[in-house]
Amino acid sequence: MAPVSNTAEAVIGHGFTRIDGPKKVTGSARYTSDHAFPGLVHAVPVAATITTGRITALDPGAALRMPGVIQVFHSGNFSDQVYRKQSGGGKTDEARPPLADDRITYYGQYVALVLANTYEQAVAGAAAVKVSYAADKPNVAMRLSAEEKESVDTERGDVTKAFANAPVKIDHTYTTPPHAHNPIELHATVALWNGKEFTLYETSQAIMNHRMVMAQMLGVAPEQMRIITEYLGSGFGGKLWPWSHSLLAAAAARQLQRPVKLVVDREMMFHNVGHRTNTQQRIRLSADTSGKLQSVQHDYLFHNARLDTYKENCGEATGYLYSSPNLRAAWSFARRDIAPPTSMRGPGAVPGLYALESGMNELAVALNMDPLQLRLINEPTTDESTGTPFSSRHLTECLTTGAERFGWAQRDPRPGSMRNGAGVVIGWGMAACTWMAKALPAEATVQFDSQGGATVLSGTQDIGTGTYTVVAQMVAQLTGLPLTRIEVTIGDTSLPPGPMSGGSMATGSLVPAVQQATKAAIDAAIAVAIEEHPPFHGMQAEALTFARMRIYPKGSDPANGIEVGQLLSNAQMKYISGSGKTPGSQDVDEKFSIHSYGAHFVEVTWEPEMARLKVNRVVTVIDGGKVINPRTGRNQIEGAIIMGVGMALFEATEYDPRTGQPVNSNLADYIVTTHADAPEVDITFLDYPDTTLNPLGARGIGEIGLAGVSAAITDAVRHATGVVVRDLPVRIEDLLKSTLPA
Ligand code: MOS
Repeated sequence: MAPVSNTAEAVIGHGFTRIDGPKKVTGSARYTSDHAFPGLVHAVPVAATITTGRITALDPGAALRMPGVIQVFHSGNFSDQVYRKQSGGGKTDEARPPLADDRITYYGQYVALVLANTYEQAVAGAAAVKVSYAADKPNVAMRLSAEEKESVDTERGDVTKAFANAPVKIDHTYTTPPHAHNPIELHATVALWNGKEFTLYETSQAIMNHRMVMAQMLGVAPEQMRIITEYLGSGFGGKLWPWSHSLLAAAAARQLQRPVKLVVDREMMFHNVGHRTNTQQRIRLSADTSGKLQSVQHDYLFHNARLDTYKENCGEATGYLYSSPNLRAAWSFARRDIAPPTSMRGPGAVPGLYALESGMNELAVALNMDPLQLRLINEPTTDESTGTPFSSRHLTECLTTGAERFGWAQRDPRPGSMRNGAGVVIGWGMAACTWMAKALPAEATVQFDSQGGATVLSGTQDIGTGTYTVVAQMVAQLTGLPLTRIEVTIGDTSLPPGPMSGGSMATGSLVPAVQQATKAAIDAAIAVAIEEHPPFHGMQAEALTFARMRIYPKGSDPANGIEVGQLLSNAQMKYISGSGKTPGSQDVDEKFSIHSYGAHFVEVTWEPEMARLKVNRVVTVIDGGKVINPRTGRNQIEGAIIMGVGMALFEATEYDPRTGQPVNSNLADYIVTTHADAPEVDITFLDYPDTTLNPLGARGIGEIGLAGVSAAITDAVRHATGVVVRDLPVRIEDLLKSTLPA
C-alpha cells in the first residue's frame, strides 16, 4: 500500500457540526413518511380492543362501502401473504405473521388493514370495520415470579456461603417498569412493488437485517428486496428489527399493485413496535468491614410476550464491573399478555446497572462509607468473569475526575443536611456505568471523481447520531478534502453492506472500513497516474505520494504532481474507487474484555413544602475510547442523561390490570423529560483510544450515557429526602413519605 500522508488538521477528533444539518433544518432531508409516489394508497391498521382472546367476527362491509376505501385485509383474506419468520437469517422480535389467524395476544394487535386513496378515508374506514371478540381475562401483572427455568449468566465462588458469613450485607429488590422508546419520528413504511421486486422506504436502524427478514417473511429472495432509510428521527432500539406494519404495507403493495404508505400512529407506537420489559431484580451484596466485596448476587426477572422470547440481559455488566471472589448472575422470565418487548437504549445493562449500582449505593450506606470510595476499592485488575485482560479500562479515572469536577469531597453524607446558596435542600448521588464494545463486519466504497470530490458508499444508516458526519471526517482526514466536497451515500441496501446502528457499534465498525476504502482509492489513483499521466510512466507506486488530493513524486514539490480530479478528467474517467471491508471484532472479543466505562454525579434540589424535586446538575465522565467527533459525541451523552432523568422520575407504561390495556399510550400521559426538567450537564470524555477493537480506537458512545444515571438520581433523592425508592420511577407519593424536618 502506498504511503498516505495525513493532512495537518486533525479532522478525526474535531467537533464538526453535522454535514446533514442544513438539509434537516431546511426541511429538505426526506424522512421515510415524506416519500410519496403517484397512485399512493394509504394504509391504516385496525387494532384489537381486547388484550387476549379471539376474534369471533370481523365485518369489513361498512368500511368497504365508504368513499375512497379500496380494500380491507384481515386474517380471512390475507393469511397467505406473509410467512412465519424462520430462525436464522436476520432478527425480528415478532416471528408470527400479522393477520395470521383469529388469536389476540396483546392489546392493540393489528386485526385488519384498511387501504384507501387518502389517509383520512383510511382512518374513517378503519373506524368502520366491525370486530367482535371473545375476550379472556388478561394477565399484565407487573409483579413477576419465575415461570421458566433459571439460567445462569455468570458464576464464580460460592455466593451463598460468602453472603452468610459476611459482616456487612444488603438484600434488596429493585424494579423498573415497561418503557416506550418514543422516538419523535413515527415508524413508517412506504412500499413499492414493481411485479418483481420490492422497494421499501423504512424507518430502520438496520437496513441489511430488515432486507433479510422482509425477504423471508414475504417469500422473495433478498435480491428482490431493497430497503431505503435516508434519515431517521431516532430509534433507541425500537427501529432495530422489523415490525408487523412493515410486512402489512409491503404485502398490500404487492396485492394492490400500487405504492402503499403506512405510518404507525403515536398510540400504536406504545403497542406494536416493542418496548423495554419491566424488570424485577434482587441484589444481594456483602462486604468485609473495609468495604471489600465478598459476594455479588444478581437474580433478575422480566416479562415476555406469549409467543416470542426476548432476553433483557440485566446481568451483562455484573460479572466484570467489580472485583468479588464470589459472584452469580441468573435470570428467568414470566409471560404476560403484553406485546413483544425488544431492545431499548442500553438493553439489559441500563435496567441492570440501575439495580446493581443502587445496591452498591445501599451497601455504602450500610458500611457507613463514601459510595465513591466503595467503587474505588473494588476496582478489578482483570475481567474476573472470563479471566481475560481489559482492553482499556479507566473507570477509576472516570470516578476521580467526575468527583473533582462535581465537588464531591464537600458532600456531607447525612440525609437532608446540605443546602444550596438559596437555602434549598440538595441531595448528591453517584453511580458508575459501563457498556459493551464490539465491532460488526462492515464494507464501504470510496470514489474519487473527475470533479475532484469524493463519495462514500455504504449500506448503513444514520439514526440521527452523526454517521454521515463521522464517515466524511474519515475521508477528509486522509484526503485533505473539505467536508463540503465529500458526499456520503448511505441508507440503501443496494450499497456495500454496512453495519446496523445498534449496540453503539455503527461508528466503530464503519469508520475503519471507510478508512481502508479511502486508502484503496488513493492506491487506485496512484495506479491511474502511473498509467495515464505521461511524466509518471514507468514509475513504481512507491516512488509516488498522495496528499491533499495531489499525486506527486516523493520528496518533490507537490506542484510537480497532478490533482486527482484533473488526472481522471485527462484519462476520461468519471471516477475511480477503492473498497474497504473489516471483519468485526469476533477475533478479539474472546481475548479481551472490551467495554466502555463512565461515572455520573448528580445533584437534586428538594423543596419539601411543595414536594418539588428537580435534577439540577449532572457531571458525567465517559471512557469510550477515541471520540471521533466530540460535538456529536457529547450530544449522545447529553441525550442519554436527559433520558435517564425520565427513567428515574417519569417514564412508565401503565397497564390497566382489568383490561390489559396500556392506559397512557400518548405523550401527554406517558411523561418524558421536558426542557424544564433538564439539568445542567457537564460532560468529559477521557479519550483513550482502544485499538484492540479497531485502528482508530473508537468504542461507541450511543448507549452508555443512560446506564447508571437513574441509580445516581435515586441515591441523590435519598440523600435529599431520606426516602429510599427501589421501584422506578420515583413518584411524588414516595417523596411525601419524607420525615426529615423541612
Ligand atoms: Mo440500541 S437498543 O442497540 O438501538
